Amino acid sequence: MKSCRVTRTVARAMQPSKLITTSKFHQSRSITTEPRRFTLNTGASIPSIGFGTFQDPEAQEDAVSRALRAGLRLIDTAKVYHIEKQVGRGLKTSGVPREDVFLGTKLWCNSYHPDDVEAALDQSLQDLDTPYVDLLMMHYPVTFKRGTAEFPRDESGKMLLGETTYLATWHAMEKLVAKGKARAIGVSNFSKGELETLIRESSTIPAVHQMEVHPYLQQRDFNSWLRAQGIHVVQFSPLGNMNDFYRSTGWSKEVAHMKRVIDQPVLRELATKYGKSVVQVVLAWGVNAGRSVIPKSTVDWQIKENVESDFALEPADMEIIETLDIKARFNDPSLDYQYRLYSDLEGTEGTRDGKTH
Ligand SMILES: NC(=O)c1ccc[n+]([C@@H]2O[C@H](COP(=O)([O-])OP(=O)(O)OC[C@H]3O[C@@H](n4cnc5c(N)ncnc54)[C@H](OP(=O)(O)O)[C@@H]3O)[C@@H](O)[C@H]2O)c1
Repeated sequence: MKSCRVTRTVARAMQPSKLITTSKFHQSRSITTEPRRFTLNTGASIPSIGFGTFQDPEAQEDAVSRALRAGLRLIDTAKVYHIEKQVGRGLKTSGVPREDVFLGTKLWCNSYHPDDVEAALDQSLQDLDTPYVDLLMMHYPVTFKRGTAEFPRDESGKMLLGETTYLATWHAMEKLVAKGKARAIGVSNFSKGELETLIRESSTIPAVHQMEVHPYLQQRDFNSWLRAQGIHVVQFSPLGNMNDFYRSTGWSKEVAHMKRVIDQPVLRELATKYGKSVVQVVLAWGVNAGRSVIPKSTVDWQIKENVESDFALEPADMEIIETLDIKARFNDPSLDYQYRLYSDLEGTEGTRDGKTH
């Protein structure tokens, strides 16, 4: 059983590591309120630490504003979060100039027909109250039936799919870069094979792949491959099963109920060593691997803590965190979406075995 295997692996990973030195650690990089930036294949720069806006719509305008004032300069949102108006208002009330912010949003799966793509972005731009986004992503590679229903289903509740391929959608997105409405385009939740198709069949290599990465799902080979292609990775759900959504949705496997990432003893030891919180260590692990992270929080002290998560981790400590990789994927709506997501990637056993629902 998958769950048993996972439990055993976690139990092993939970053993306190003898590698963690108790001697005073000297940080080689000073703590700063300004996270480092990475360069995209477009030449633009993207901050290492950003801010996610999925959930809590009533709190997001204020949260976005506070996150920007706290020093974050990367905001991630999506059409389907129904939050773009709040994000736009938060941006304005923060007082931070628009050009200082890297703002990314995502096209939803019912707007993938090439004739719908520009209108969908126009609506997002209107709601965000901005003339352009820094990044427009395809949210998933699956196309739903064209129309106003975001989750079009038949009488039995089965999702209705559209005929447009993600490649046709991508070509429509490329035109939006030429028009200046999107400064870069990228994807989210793609498999390696799907990305290879985009690279082979178009003239634009995605600037970003936004995907699930955290200590429980590290995807090392895929990350190396993406880096070799010049595709920058933005980690969503960087705190793994911290998001309660994964514990309650039918999407997630039983493993979402496992010990939370931040309760792992080995991470607690590292947090003590660096004088940081476990969340900060987990975020720093992503940043030290060359990725951006976009934790979501509406809580002031948490937002401030997350801003302070760009600090150097010793290579040996990066290796310790690697032992926590149990290939547990929490965001896998394959069964609901009637489409095998992540087909060539790690962590899909749960849905393969039909355990997601
Ligand atoms: N492309 C996609 O398909 C996709 C999928 C999922 C997520 N995303 C993006 O990624 C963002 C982040 O992912 P996520 O929201 O799933 O999960 P997450 O950021 O990994 O975790 C969020 C949870 O961690 C808590 N938290 C945040 N900072 C903390 C801190 N310093 N100390 C203690 N707890 C802390 C939050 O608390 P509070 O709730 O109390 O604030 C919340 O419960 C989303 O908001 C969204 O923008 C994209």
